Amino acid sequence: MNVYDSVRMADVLAPHGYVPTDSPVDADMVILNTCHIREKAAEKVYSEIGRMRLLKQGREAAGERMIIAVGGCVGQAEGAEIIARADCVDMVFGPQTYHRLPELVAQVLQKSGTRVVDTEFPEEDKFDHLPEESASQGPAAFLSVQEGCDKFCTFCVVPYTRGAEQSRPVAAVTDEARRLAAGGCREITLLGQNVNAYHGTAPDGREWGLGRLIRHLAESVPAVQRIRYTTSHPRDMADELIEAHRDVPQLMPYLHLPVQSGSDRILAAMNRQHTAEDYFRIIEGLRAARSDIALSSDFIVGFPGETDRDFADTLRLIREVTFAQAYSFKYSARPGTPAAGIGEQVPDPVKEERLAMVQQLLQAQQEAFNHNAAGAVMPVLFDRKGRRPGQIQGRSPYMQSVFAEAPDRLIGSVATCRIAAVHNRSLRGDIVAAAAPSKRVSA
Ligand code: 5AD
Ligand code: SF4
Repeated sequence: MNVYDSVRMADVLAPHGYVPTDSPVDADMVILNTCHIREKAAEKVYSEIGRMRLLKQGREAAGERMIIAVGGCVGQAEGAEIIARADCVDMVFGPQTYHRLPELVAQVLQKSGTRVVDTEFPEEDKFDHLPEESASQGPAAFLSVQEGCDKFCTFCVVPYTRGAEQSRPVAAVTDEARRLAAGGCREITLLGQNVNAYHGTAPDGREWGLGRLIRHLAESVPAVQRIRYTTSHPRDMADELIEAHRDVPQLMPYLHLPVQSGSDRILAAMNRQHTAEDYFRIIEGLRAARSDIALSSDFIVGFPGETDRDFADTLRLIREVTFAQAYSFKYSARPGTPAAGIGEQVPDPVKEERLAMVQQLLQAQQEAFNHNAAGAVMPVLFDRKGRRPGQIQGRSPYMQSVFAEAPDRLIGSVATCRIAAVHNRSLRGDIVAAAAPSKRVSA
């Protein structure tokens, strides 16, 4: 979502003469688009501000200016505190106010020494005030359809930083998808903090869920050959969405569905509103709908009160489901969240130990999944040059990185590949056909 937001910030600033640059050294403005989800991410912001401060001083010594802005969820959560703590920061704003960037920049530029904070949750809809996308995102693009979250998991800052759940209308999403397709996009990842809670107003006046939206996009934007969505909550895996996995070939057979823990006690304490058994049932439904679906998830170890037994339940869930890929984190107490106040915090060495165990298991599952691809024939969307000359690189339906010796002209298209070798972080493919067949090729 932050990657998407950064692209949209570039869009909103483009009419004012700003262009993205690869290096902050010669930048007139540096925007740090920040993440508040865990302590480590939030801490990075201050060290990054320190680095930018030196660059700013260098520019000022040469008689030039550099605006330093902090956007994103750390901006939202800490607001004026950042201004107080870091004297080089000119501007702080949140994820819901970046459409106002031109005004904020104008205020800062108007009078030297002006510093502004805008962390409101405004009445107006950000998307109504953003220009059409100018920056092409290339063959694989993000499209935000839903923002915010009303779930209030007890460990999570998102409901406070991103605000209440909001869905964009179907027509706005479809128009954006069409424009992306016209710019060469072949794969769209629909984004939302709780994307499968999507309930956008449709042209028929009703509210459509994500499954209906996906069907609609598949039908009305045929140039988009692949559709993905992230991130989902198990509670919102509606039948209609599971059926879309059965019926819509464009919908990729890969799903990131965070479960966080395999212990019902911990799931309840996290306010996840489902049990481990519920999660198994959903996975069963998905596999019945699309037998080749591969799964990814998020796990938190060391949530307050987590015992060895609870942790064993998490390992059991992982063994039972088997994941193609997953992210795992040590629980990090976040200010203002209910879990941060629970007395029974798990000591860090225990968290470390559990994290190592969970990662070892997940890593083994990921390796097995990748090795299973050897010899398989699968469509690959090539979206960039490879690391070596003569190579191009792309993604399998399962988000595996695939490289092949092939001409650059294949970048931007889906080609059929036979997987010739499995490396640590990528697969090597041989091109079998320059265009993917219209029917599914299963691994
Ligand atoms: N501590 C550790 N991990 C967290 N996540 C969210 N909040 C926390 C926290 N306080 C993880 C969850 C979520 C992912 C985006 O980040 O696993 O799914
Ligand atoms: Fe955070 Fe996701 Fe829970 Fe919402 S559903 S509170 S974004 S973990």
